[in-house]
Amino acid sequence: MVGLGPKPPPSRKGTGTLADAPKDLLKEIKHLEELFTIDTAKLKEITHHFVNELTKGLSVKGGSIPMNPTWVMSQPTGYETGSYLALDMGGTNLRVCQVTLTEQKSEFDIIQSKYRMPEELKTGDADELWEYIADCLLQFIETHHGDVTKLDKIPLGFTFSYPATQNYVDEGILQRWTKGFDIAGVEGHNVVPMFEAALAQRGVPIKLTALINDTTGTLIASAYTDPKMKIGCIFGTGCNAAYIEDCGSIPKLAHLNLPPETPMAINCEWGAFDNEGKVLPRTPYDVAIDKDSPRPGQQSFEKMIAGLYLGEIFRLIMVDLHDKHDVHIFAGQDIAKLRKPYSLDSSFLSSIEEDPFENLSETLDLFQNKLNISPNLPELELIRRTAELIGTRAARLSACGVSAISIKKGYTTSCHVGADGSVFNKYPHFKARGAVALREILDWPEKTDPKEEDPIEILTAEDGSGVGAALIAALTLQRVKAGNMHGILHPENFT
Ligand code: GLC
Repeated sequence: MVGLGPKPPPSRKGTGTLADAPKDLLKEIKHLEELFTIDTAKLKEITHHFVNELTKGLSVKGGSIPMNPTWVMSQPTGYETGSYLALDMGGTNLRVCQVTLTEQKSEFDIIQSKYRMPEELKTGDADELWEYIADCLLQFIETHHGDVTKLDKIPLGFTFSYPATQNYVDEGILQRWTKGFDIAGVEGHNVVPMFEAALAQRGVPIKLTALINDTTGTLIASAYTDPKMKIGCIFGTGCNAAYIEDCGSIPKLAHLNLPPETPMAINCEWGAFDNEGKVLPRTPYDVAIDKDSPRPGQQSFEKMIAGLYLGEIFRLIMVDLHDKHDVHIFAGQDIAKLRKPYSLDSSFLSSIEEDPFENLSETLDLFQNKLNISPNLPELELIRRTAELIGTRAARLSACGVSAISIKKGYTTSCHVGADGSVFNKYPHFKARGAVALREILDWPEKTDPKEEDPIEILTAEDGSGVGAALIAALTLQRVKAGNMHGILHPENFT
């Protein structure tokens, strides 16, 4: 057997000795609980609004959720074949893969290289971004294919996980940067020619067959191995979902006169849900994050759920309770390190929630090592509870989005949702908390058999930005060959 390391210790469940905490601290904990707890009624209210917003996003007038058609127009059968390059420009890493879809049903081989996305590139210059990406690709191709001057152009699926208008599958007009990116001169422009120019300059032999979102990739990759997969989600640095709509329900595509039953994958970009602040119970900390972000007023939902923000919400609470309140946590200690924006990522919260010890000694170590702060026991209890509140709220809110798509599409039984991303895969209890919230929102009865599946199950997805991108490249080539030229800007790349 491979990959089975030592079993992780069970994490301590729930809050321990809160009763011993001083009164003022208890008051603060109670206040945080009020701010961050979302009860069933509120979850249902949010979901109800969400369903309407999904529909609004598909209308000609539009709404705050972009609901971007992607020109991915079929589901895989498992019999797709061929070898493709896939490039993933996510929020944190850059990944290049060579994916081979084999003759065997639903099987694939993958070779990949990961590159860290340098922090300064995220807010730097557009040319530098494209040059960096082209260099990584060049290096990969030289390593795995040899001399680039002797190669024919290789088809590539480009996972560009930001909101993009796609009039064509091989186009992506960036609507706005998300996930903390802020690079001038890209918003409002088609990123494909910029990317291709950098490739041409270096002689990188590539033809772009599809620009995709990570959620669409996740959906398609998951459907390759499990036909019950209906929704693809990412809960990572950002948060978003994709599903398949029929063109007849997309009024903003009506002018194209596509047959109403034609399938079309929609990249929801649901991070933008409730940007107008109608239903989400935002706390002063959420408001502060938004105000200091590069795009205030955008991605309201995402800013309460995604990995990029969870640690920052926690940090703001800690600083606030040190500075302003009677309790004055970490009194007399230097909190200079804690004052640094975005210094705590979601793995910091994961570690707090994973601390298995009653006295929270691992949390103490974490604070001492990372922040040079030594919380006392009541403060450690407050820290633990705060992490639980933030993590639970994120999981419960994410269930509203999944429920909304399921309600809109009438997916009431046997619906699988493929999910990926660091929060989904690594944040403790995220899956279980999300499943509890789904049950509350959708009024499922208690299970009679614990092994029985829920009507909607959120499961670990297949690799969307690698296998998914390759599959979408394959499906697009296939449909072009079959004469479906809808949403193809450069047919010459499909020969
Ligand atoms: C952000 C992006 C979206 C992406 C998500 C997950 O919400 O706007 O395109 O799917 O992050 O990476």
